[in-house]
Amino acid sequence: MLVKPNEILAEALNMQYAVGAFNTYHLEVSQAILWAAQEQQSPVIIQTSESAIKYAGLPQIVAIVTTLAKEIDVPVVLHLDHGKSLEQAKACIEAGYTSVMIDAGTEPLEKNIAIVKEVVTAAHQRGVWVEAELGAILGVEGALGLGGEKTPEDMMTKPAQAREFVEKTGIDALAVSVGTIHGAFSGQEYIRWQILEELEKELPNFPLVVHGASGIEAKDLAKVALTNVCKVNVDTEVRIAFEAAVKSYFDEAHKKVDPRAILRPARDAAQAVVAEKMKIFGSAGRAK
Ligand code: G3H
Ligand code: ZN
Repeated sequence: MLVKPNEILAEALNMQYAVGAFNTYHLEVSQAILWAAQEQQSPVIIQTSESAIKYAGLPQIVAIVTTLAKEIDVPVVLHLDHGKSLEQAKACIEAGYTSVMIDAGTEPLEKNIAIVKEVVTAAHQRGVWVEAELGAILGVEGALGLGGEKTPEDMMTKPAQAREFVEKTGIDALAVSVGTIHGAFSGQEYIRWQILEELEKELPNFPLVVHGASGIEAKDLAKVALTNVCKVNVDTEVRIAFEAAVKSYFDEAHKKVDPRAILRPARDAAQAVVAEKMKIFGSAGRAK
């Protein structure tokens, strides 16, 4: 069933685990994410970027997710990932999203605050949860780690600005830049644990979000989940698994043409990645 993030993230924060937020863009990956949650008895956040909404259609992706969510007995949040405008956030809220992110992290602080405040006002009127970003997270989702640039220190979240940002905007969770990069850049990414500790001091018991989890080693993700980070975003590794399964389908000869035969193993591969992340984040078995 669809729930608001408050219901699952407060628990994650208190019990020191994280809830995975997985990107979807069509039926099969939506099934993979929600079936993994059911299999692992884990709360789950399923999210769409603006480009995923353009690809699938807003009513269509909402219909897919809400229908699948009704068929399982674990809590599901439908979230707008990296929303870029008040209009997009409002459209998603109208369509039934229970959570939105407004991403103005690359704007100067005052402009970021002004943009986010508008979305918070609109969202909170409908009881919808708001995530915003302070600092900038580099990289491009789906990018592969062939020499991706490291996130320069000046793009990291500045803990000294965090409390002011949260208080002035009224957001419900803060996406932080602590060394992760969008895309899978193994070796290029390492968590700045010091920044994370300072953020926890500045914002005790406040939900933090980490983006760009693909390419981060399991041991570091498990350690992140023990901090006040209670939402961890994953996209590229699911895409890689899906694409690899499609490629291996075409490595063999087949007697007949059946797109379901192409997509079924890809769906299974995506589901396996999501299930594994739920175990690493510690959310497996936590569904009430
Ligand atoms: O918002 C989505 C995530 O930040 C995706 O990051 O592709 O590195 O897993 P990722
Ligand atoms: Zn992201």
